[in-house]
Amino acid sequence: MGVEICVEGLTKSFGHQVIWQDVSLTLPAGEVSVMLGPSGTGKSVFLKTLVGLLKPDCGSVKIAGRDITRLREHELYEVRKLFGVLFQDGALFGSMNLYDNIAFPLREHTRKSESEIRRIVLEKMDMVGLIGSEGKLPGEISGGMRKRAGLARALVLDPEIILFDEPDSGLDPVRVAYLNQLIVDLNAQIDATFLIVTHDIASARQVPDNIGLLFRRELVMFGPREELLTSDEPVVRQFLNGRMQGPIGMAEEKDAAQVEQELAALGDGSKTPGSQALTPRLLPGPGITRPPRWEAIARHEAELRRRKAVADA
Ligand SMILES: Nc1ncnc2c1ncn2[C@@H]1O[C@H](COP(=O)(O)OP(=O)(O)OP(=O)(O)O)[C@@H](O)[C@H]1O
Ligand SMILES: [Mg+2]
Repeated sequence: MGVEICVEGLTKSFGHQVIWQDVSLTLPAGEVSVMLGPSGTGKSVFLKTLVGLLKPDCGSVKIAGRDITRLREHELYEVRKLFGVLFQDGALFGSMNLYDNIAFPLREHTRKSESEIRRIVLEKMDMVGLIGSEGKLPGEISGGMRKRAGLARALVLDPEIILFDEPDSGLDPVRVAYLNQLIVDLNAQIDATFLIVTHDIASARQVPDNIGLLFRRELVMFGPREELLTSDEPVVRQFLNGRMQGPIGMAEEKDAAQVEQELAALGDGSKTPGSQALTPRLLPGPGITRPPRWEAIARHEAELRRRKAVADA
C-alpha cells in the first residue's frame, strides 16, 4: 500500500535564483499524479527535493508523518528505501552492464541471495522488454533502452513511492503507449504512490488520477484530473492543449495585451466553461486480476465531491 506525501509551503532557490516558492500539495496514497510544466520550471528539482537529495529553503515534505527535510543522512538512507526513482538521464552506472545496474539496489539495500536477485532482476527486465540485453553496457544501447533499464532498476525494491522523471522522453509512440499501460497496471498491482513528470500531454490526460502544473515559480494548480482537464485557467488550458496562444511563451513571459489578443482569436469555444474534453482514463489491462484500487478510487471521488461542494458554495 502506498503512502501519502504531504508537501507544505516548499520553496527552493539556488543562490539568488528562486526555482519555485510556496508549493503545497498532497500526493494521495496509492494514486498516480503527473507534474507538468515548461522546461526549466524546476520539475526535476522538485523530485530531487522529495527524495531528500536537495534541501529546500523552507517548507516540509511529510512522508508517513515524518518531515524528510529535517532528517539526518543515515535516517534519510532508510526513508529512501521506500522510493523507486527514475531520474531524467537514467543515471545508470556507465561501467556496469544492465544486469548489474538493475541488481545494484538489491545488493546495496537487501541481504537477498544472488539466485533471488537473479529472479527479481530478470522479472523486471522482462517487464520492460530488455531480456537478452543483460550483458550490454549503458553506452552500447539506445536512449529508450537506457530509460527502460532505469525503470526496471526503480522497481526492484518494490517501492511504496515511485517517482519518474520523463519516463517517456526518447521513446517512440508505441513504446510510450506500452509504458503508460505498464504504469497503470503496476499501480493496480502494487498500489504504490506515483509521481510522474512528463511533457507528453496525451499521457498526462489518460494516465493519472491527479495533475499539477508548475509555471513561473508557482504551482499553478494541483488536483484531480477531472478538475484540471476541464479547467478554464488559461495557463492550464494552454499547456494541456499544447498551444502557442496563451500566457506561456518561448521565454516563459508574454505581455498581457498579447495574451488577451491570442485568447480572443481562439474564439468562443475557448471561453465556454468546462468545454474541455475529459479524456477517458486508461484502465488496467485484462491480465490484471486484482481489483483496480477500489479504495483509492473511492477516496479520489470523495475528494472530487468535496472540491465541487467548496466551489459551488
Ligand atoms: N544543482 C543545481 N544548482 C544550481 N541550479 C540548478 C541545479 N539544479 C537545477 N538548477 C536550475 O534549476 C532550474 C530548474 O531545473 P530543472 O532541471 O528542475 O527543470 P525542469 O523543469 O526539470 O526542466 P526540463 O523539463 O527541461 O527537464 C534550472 O534553471 C536549472 O538551471
Ligand atoms: Mg527535468
